[in-house]
Amino acid sequence: MAGGDVIMVTGACGAIGGHVVRRLDRLGHRVVAFDQIGPSRAIASLDGRVPLVIGHVDDLGSILDAVRAHRVTRIIHLARVASPLNDEHPGSLYQVDFGGSVNVLEAARLAGVARAALASSYNIYPRATEPPHGHPTYAPVAEEHPPAPGRPYAIFKWAMEQVALTYARRFDLEVAMVRFSTYYGPERAIRRGTRAADVLNRMILNALEGQPTVVPQGGDQGFDAVYVKDCAQGAVAACLAPSVPSRIYNIGSGAAVTLRDAAQAVRRLVPGAQIEVGPGLEFNPGFGGHYIILDISRARREIGYAPEFDLTRGIADCMEELRTML
Ligand SMILES: NC(=O)c1ccc[n+]([C@@H]2O[C@H](COP(=O)([O-])OP(=O)(O)OC[C@H]3O[C@@H](n4cnc5c(N)ncnc54)[C@H](O)[C@@H]3O)[C@@H](O)[C@H]2O)c1
Repeated sequence: MAGGDVIMVTGACGAIGGHVVRRLDRLGHRVVAFDQIGPSRAIASLDGRVPLVIGHVDDLGSILDAVRAHRVTRIIHLARVASPLNDEHPGSLYQVDFGGSVNVLEAARLAGVARAALASSYNIYPRATEPPHGHPTYAPVAEEHPPAPGRPYAIFKWAMEQVALTYARRFDLEVAMVRFSTYYGPERAIRRGTRAADVLNRMILNALEGQPTVVPQGGDQGFDAVYVKDCAQGAVAACLAPSVPSRIYNIGSGAAVTLRDAAQAVRRLVPGAQIEVGPGLEFNPGFGGHYIILDISRARREIGYAPEFDLTRGIADCMEELRTML
């Protein structure tokens, strides 16, 4: 076992959570999974090494009981209200995403946990539709950039960050927030969703299933597509790094890619895949897409985050995993 830490992962049965649990397990850590649902495919295979606590983050008692019962020393908090219950249901976001995060912080404080790492979002930055941060220059956005959360989801993430910083200042609890960019990965692809990131996920899944993909516009739009396993790496780094002096870390791919790049990568892996991507910007116009590129230099410098998957490697890995799931 690596060190004496016991790390509890909330939302452990979700897309990123499964990879976080597996990564920690691979590194030799003792892990406790916490989720409202039964074991996911990703963690069911861990041979009983990882206990799963079924509980609700919106119930402080259930988190505190789990933390105390398993002598948890660090928490990675990823639980969030199930999609598609998102911006149309701000009450659920308030209760689970925001309230659940405050409960995690409170449980951490009451139980003397050493560090809580919490999932935040690049959605708290303003949309960038022109230079320097938008098309065509895509200057990466650093953590100091003034926030402008415009949707309930982003507003509650930003509020969570503020509360966490208060816990750090007032109660000496070590906290770290990871602001994830939009991610792609097999668990998300298989959900067949419709959000902005799902255009890429669908392209990958369609190619494997022999289905065509037609994206009428947006082939020139640069965006920051991070692979789910790199998100997991970022969350683990924020939880385990020797120190987290800046407390807030962008976790993205660090580079702009387009759906045209993605189509090329998919065609190389699945020759003959039928993909059409039209020109222009905004590949998911109804969604009000958030296409900014995250500056990840702080995460590289302070917590040792280093993305392992460029677009080609990420799509290849995603396909390999999907083949075992279909
Ligand atoms: N760019 C972004 O905004 C962005 C991108 C990726 C992830 N994230 C954040 O990262 C985290 C993980 O995302 P994901 O995509 O893996 O999520 P997911 O939806 O795949 O998984 C969430 C998990 O939380 C669990 N859950 C839901 N309600 C719960 C409750 N009340 N109590 C306990 N568990 C509960 C679900 O059962 C699920 O297993 C989330 O906080 C998400 O907001 C942000």
